[in-house]
Amino acid sequence: MIALGCDHGGFELMQEVKAHLTEKGVEFRDFGTDSTEATDYPIYAKRVAKAVLSGECEKGILICGTGIGISITANKFKGIRCAVCHDVFSAEATRQHNDANVLAMGGRVVGPGLALMIVDTFLNTEFSNAPRHINRIRQMETEEE
Ligand code: RB5
Repeated sequence: MIALGCDHGGFELMQEVKAHLTEKGVEFRDFGTDSTEATDYPIYAKRVAKAVLSGECEKGILICGTGIGISITANKFKGIRCAVCHDVFSAEATRQHNDANVLAMGGRVVGPGLALMIVDTFLNTEFSNAPRHINRIRQMETEEE
């Protein structure tokens, strides 16, 4: 189950993502927004972060205008590793190296063709499980060096 959240800046791209996931048979839960009416991206970032942390959803996808505000909000939650990706290389690397559990994109930055490739890469790439990456992820969770 994939948790989806967007604001007005990401709404149109999210419709493309939803149609794509439906076509691929990937289950998702839509946490809004449900129109292009102006709203506040933290609302949706928080809903998706909570759904991932509770285990209800294994990963999340967040879209705002830039991908930035919504990712900053999601990353306030301990255990959320949200990566803004606007290229396929980053989407693959953040899964392999960071075990990112939430993808963020900007609906005003990427078109649907590239965005759907990024989504597929993010959802289909496994974490490497390499000890150095496990160790670095552990280090993210503490202020100690
Ligand atoms: C909304 O205008 C815009 O600020 C938002 O979608 C996002 O880009 C914030 O980071």
